[in-house]
Amino acid sequence: MTSQTSSNKIYRYKIILLGDPGVGKTSLIRRYVHNSFDTNYSSTIGVNISSKNVVLDNKQIQFSISDIGGNKRFASIRKSFYKDAKGCLLVCDLTRENTLEALTQWQKDIALAVTGVNYLLIANKCDLNDQRVISQTDLYNKSNELDILGHSCFITSAKTGNKVDEVFRILAKHIVSTNH
Ligand code: GTP
Repeated sequence: MTSQTSSNKIYRYKIILLGDPGVGKTSLIRRYVHNSFDTNYSSTIGVNISSKNVVLDNKQIQFSISDIGGNKRFASIRKSFYKDAKGCLLVCDLTRENTLEALTQWQKDIALAVTGVNYLLIANKCDLNDQRVISQTDLYNKSNELDILGHSCFITSAKTGNKVDEVFRILAKHIVSTNH
């Protein structure tokens, strides 16, 4: 979807973060949009939408970033927010194995509602290395199973900021190159 301002064209794209409760979706957005981190966990009720303006290849881009609460009780409202999504970060928590397994179902959920989505696999909380239970091989296998861009996985920390900007930038580049 695009719109025209008086002098510049602004490209507007929707990005969604999906994954089990507590994997760090809100925290990744907070790090990317506000460059901050909160250690308190407050489960997202329903959906929160943030926006971020970036310039890529001389194009003005406005991302609408949907933070969708991972709790199962939001399943019914969630689907209406998938519409028009161009990019999706599938997020797991490196300290909880089942959160990686769950991404198969999360992807099925969004793929039923919208096609043409660019996916990236994100393994968050890499600062908690001593509690890590998900291996590089596990991540590689999952990125092959899911339709992940370049079959790659990004290991992030919303706490330290490791790779967070890079993940959004790479997703943005893919979206821009596939949507003119
Ligand atoms: P829901 O809203 O329930 O779906 O959770 P969420 O995926 O949005 O998780 P949230 O961002 O709220 O983070 C859950 C907890 O994990 C919070 O206490 C965060 O401070 C913590 N957390 C998030 N990212 C990181 C990280 O990279 N490292 C560490 N150590 N903690 C993190």
